Amino acid sequence: MISPFLSSASAFVATFSKPPKGSDVQKVVVSGVNSAEGWSIRTERFTEKQAFTDPTVKIVGDPSPALTPWLERTFRQVLVQTPEADLQILRTFKGGEVRTSTKRLPPSRTRWDGVAADRTKQRSLTPENDAAFLIALDIATADGKIKASMADKFRQVNHLLAGARLASTNNGPYRIVDAGCGKAYLSLSLMYVLQREGVDAHLHGIDANQHVVDHCTSVAQRLALTNATFTCERIGDVVPTQECDLLIALHACDTATDEALALGLEMKAKKMLVAPCCHHEVQKQLRKESVPDYARPLLDDGITRERLGDLLTDSMRRDILRSLGYEAHLEEFISLEHTQKNILLRAEFTDTNERDRLQWADRVRAMITAWGASPRLMSMVELPSNKPPIA
Ligand SMILES: C[S@@+](CC[C@H](N)C(=O)[O-])C[C@H]1O[C@@H](n2cnc3c(N)ncnc32)[C@H](O)[C@@H]1O
Repeated sequence: MISPFLSSASAFVATFSKPPKGSDVQKVVVSGVNSAEGWSIRTERFTEKQAFTDPTVKIVGDPSPALTPWLERTFRQVLVQTPEADLQILRTFKGGEVRTSTKRLPPSRTRWDGVAADRTKQRSLTPENDAAFLIALDIATADGKIKASMADKFRQVNHLLAGARLASTNNGPYRIVDAGCGKAYLSLSLMYVLQREGVDAHLHGIDANQHVVDHCTSVAQRLALTNATFTCERIGDVVPTQECDLLIALHACDTATDEALALGLEMKAKKMLVAPCCHHEVQKQLRKESVPDYARPLLDDGITRERLGDLLTDSMRRDILRSLGYEAHLEEFISLEHTQKNILLRAEFTDTNERDRLQWADRVRAMITAWGASPRLMSMVELPSNKPPIA
């Protein structure tokens, strides 16, 4: 049934859900784009904590062999979206019998730019191939070896480069904003690999510390990254003059992460990669008398209060983005063994429908009421509401 449905499609996104009990993989998304050379197919597997992207495969002819095994072996449901229509397939098991129901539905996905496209490229830096760059970035020693103190940073950069999933979404340059850039290890690496790939990428890094801004400006000059600029200002003071494709904010301290997310929203960022740092804002607001009864023991000790505050902050930030049209997830981006700051908020604007946005907004409001606390981001955005404005 998938094969005839896809026979005239130019692109598809197939989301497999309802895994069997105990399955490690919770969801699989297979996306494909058809071109003169055949289908480029990308598969992403999501566990509860992490997302994995398989290398892109090329298929000439029918793309359904990339999809059917997931339905036959693992998942009970798949939604296949194409620009023309959706196909929903549900498999149920009754009395040892497999029943399959199939529904053709109106198309639900409105944005197709970037599906399975350029973003499938696996990018990475190696001391063997990129020594001069890594030395200039201060990650490698003069003889091209990764500095022991920078090994974790190097691992993080490569992890994020591989998962940056960039797609050219218009004919203009690919615009990257790095908020709280510090020494801009990731964004300068991204510029370097994009330039190598012939992408017209532009980077603007923002940091409140003049010293790191001067450092980044001089590294960019040394590397001839002419489209990389840096300014010394507070993220919250930035007045955006244009939209951006990718907003990065790695370990921007405390509420600077909220300012970065608000900036991304203002700049209509198509993607955001945000690794939060220390969280104080929500923690300070948590009071034993205002949290749910069952959560009170978590406020007894500093460490549990801290972890609870972190999880609430990032879950609320994620759901705020969801209520504003983004698909957003929290994932582990580097093993805890390397850093305690190992959560990555990954968001992509997919212009989700109004009903979903309202549901997420309601969930954010319910969380704020239940916990008596909210992240700074809440005061910087307006959540959708189905209540008519007061006249
Ligand atoms: C922990 S460092 C992270 C640097 C870099 N993003 C990285 O991951 O390597 C945090 C950086 O954010 C900057 N910062 C903190 N709050 C800021 C704000 N409100 N506006 C601009 N920069 C800020 C600091 O100056 C510092 O360089």
